Amino acid sequence: MVQYYDSDFSFEEHRIECEQKLQSTTSSSTCTSNHEDDEDLASLNPMTQAQCWDDFHTAHSHGNFFKPRRYILKCFPCILNHCAADNNLAQNIENCNQRYRLVLEVGCGSGSSCLPILKHCNDEHKQTKILACDCSAVAVDVCKSVIESSKDTIVVKNFGAFVSDPSLEVGEAETTFPEDVKAAYEKLTGEKTEGVNDIGLADVVLMVFVLSAVPPKRVTRFMKQIFNTAKSGGKVCFRDYALYDLPMMRFKETHYVHSTCSDSDGAAPRLYERGDGTLSRFFDLETVKCIFEAAGFVEEDLRYATVFNENRKTGDRLKRAFVHSVFRKP
Ligand SMILES: C[S@@+](CC[C@H](N)C(=O)[O-])C[C@H]1O[C@@H](n2cnc3c(N)ncnc32)[C@H](O)[C@@H]1O
Repeated sequence: MVQYYDSDFSFEEHRIECEQKLQSTTSSSTCTSNHEDDEDLASLNPMTQAQCWDDFHTAHSHGNFFKPRRYILKCFPCILNHCAADNNLAQNIENCNQRYRLVLEVGCGSGSSCLPILKHCNDEHKQTKILACDCSAVAVDVCKSVIESSKDTIVVKNFGAFVSDPSLEVGEAETTFPEDVKAAYEKLTGEKTEGVNDIGLADVVLMVFVLSAVPPKRVTRFMKQIFNTAKSGGKVCFRDYALYDLPMMRFKETHYVHSTCSDSDGAAPRLYERGDGTLSRFFDLETVKCIFEAAGFVEEDLRYATVFNENRKTGDRLKRAFVHSVFRKP
């Protein structure tokens, strides 16, 4: 497959430029906190976030808001090619007593990533099933209707979606995240997975622009559940907002949310609340590495992706910056 090119400009030069801008515009009030615990703030509560995402998806479920992420398989070729434990699909499936390889997308939104992947689950990849989940029930409904409207029977039969939030603690939801994944897998495949749960079910977990929406204090729990859901040898494909990405530079100071957690440099997370109440965090590589390694994953690929987006009206080239990475469960 053709390599996806996503190094349009130097991240380091962009960082220096942005730091200068921030120093001239940011007041010291950004660093002060007016609460002792993150969960004292309604905006950092997972239930509030699920509601905000429901509202977001309700408002954006019509018209041409949905844009398939066509580059997803070029960015992450392992989504279709990687099979956990070893690279021999047949043998691996036999070892795990699991008939299909599973790609699990967490925080699927309206299905921008799932749909392009599913379109490849034809003859060559017919042993692949895709499960998608989101904390927002509205997102899950929108995602299902997007997939169903493709009217391609192969696409529809290889797909299942469910509501779940890996950031919830035991007791906050009736079932745990791995239990939800297991139930969805059994429903989709008709296969019983006794014993499999202990070693995880997913060959690949896709996390695209979702960790940035998770309240920082909940990230440890979220990642532990992802770890428990991945098979040994399974991979996590991660893409999310990087520090100095355009929306971060555009946020007004009043949208900054002070979390008492810290990034790898000891500073508070670069966390903002959009006008609709949803959260948006911007990561540096070291913080992403720490988050994944603390959960037990091993780094395979970790870098900044820098992309020019052209504004068709003005012709301006807008600088987008993302963290792009792949981690593996040992
Ligand atoms: C920025 S959207 C990205 C959607 C999709 N991955 C994409 O790239 O188009 C973030 C999605 O993550 C979901 N989300 C936020 N927090 C979540 C959580 N704790 N657990 C599961 N999903 C979550 C939101 O409902 C939303 O659909």
